[in-house]
Amino acid sequence: MADRPDFARIKSFTLRGSRLGDKYEELLAQRGPEFVIDLPTGHDATAIATSARFDVNEAFGREAPLAVEIGPGSGEQLVSYASDHPDWNVLALEAWHPGVARCVARAVRHGVTNVRVIEADAAQALPILFGLESAGLNVPEQIMAAGDRVDRAHQNAGNPRAQMLWTFFPDPWRKARHRKRRIVSESFTGIAAGLLATGGAWRLATDWDDYAWQMRDTVEAAQYFDNPHVGQLPDPNDPEPERGGYAPRWEERIMTRFEERGIEAGRTIHDIEVIRHGRSS
Ligand SMILES: C[S@@+](CC[C@H](N)C(=O)[O-])C[C@H]1O[C@@H](n2cnc3c(N)ncnc32)[C@H](O)[C@@H]1O
Repeated sequence: MADRPDFARIKSFTLRGSRLGDKYEELLAQRGPEFVIDLPTGHDATAIATSARFDVNEAFGREAPLAVEIGPGSGEQLVSYASDHPDWNVLALEAWHPGVARCVARAVRHGVTNVRVIEADAAQALPILFGLESAGLNVPEQIMAAGDRVDRAHQNAGNPRAQMLWTFFPDPWRKARHRKRRIVSESFTGIAAGLLATGGAWRLATDWDDYAWQMRDTVEAAQYFDNPHVGQLPDPNDPEPERGGYAPRWEERIMTRFEERGIEAGRTIHDIEVIRHGRSS
C-alpha cells in the first residue's frame, strides 16, 4: 500500500523537546552509523516507508537470538541487557530523536556492539520490518483483522522472529480521552504476536495501575498468548481484585529513571509476561 502523507496516525508518543545538543549531534554523526539503522522515511518523520527493506541478520552482521525493545528512552535496559548478553542481538525502536542519540551514547560508553536502533513509531514500523500482513495499514480494525499473519510475499517476511519483546514503562496517557493512544492495545497484540517466535516472551511493565489492568486484560484477551501468571500477584485496587495475572519482576529488568520516578511518587510497579503460543487461533 502506498505511503499516505495525508493520514494522521494515532500516535503513542509526543515529540516535545526533540532538539539535540551539539554533543549528541556530534556523537550521532560519528558513531550513529554503527548503531542506527537508516531506513527511508514514510508519511512523516516517525514512519518508515512501506517499501523499506530490512534484514535483521545483515543489520547485526550475524545470526543470534533477537530481543526487541519498544521505547528504550535513554537505553538503560537495552544496553544493560546487550552488555550482559553479548550473544544476543538487541533491536530497539524509539520514536524520540534525542532518545536514539542517548541510546547510541550509552552503547558507546559501555562498549557494546550488539545493539541496533531504528528511529520510528514501533506500531507503524514493526509490521513492515517483519513482513506482516498489517504492513502499511493505518486503521485499527484492519490491523486487527490482519492479526499476526506474515505476508509470505513481503520482502522482509524472512526475518527471524524475536525471542523477546519488551514494552517497559510505555507512555501512560492518563486522561480517559487519550487512552486510545496507549501502545498496548487490541490492534497491537497481533503485531507483537507476528514478530515473536513461538515460545517467545512479551514482557511489559508500568507504574500506572489502570494501564497495568488494561495491559493484563488486553494480552489475556488476545488469542496469541498464554499468561503463565494467571491468578498470581492479585492487586487489591484492581476492579477485579482476585484476578491477578501479574508476573514477578523479571530479574534482568533493571531500574530506569522512569521506574524510579514512579516509585518516588508512590506508585506500584506491575510486571506482565506472556508467552507466544504456536496453536492456530
Ligand atoms: C516513558 S518512556 C520509558 C522509557 C524506558 N522504556 C524506561 O523504562 O525508562 C517511553 C518511551 O517510549 C517511546 N515511545 C512511545 N511510543 C513509541 C512508539 N510507538 N514507538 C517507539 N517509541 C515509542 C517514547 O519516545 C519514550 O522514549
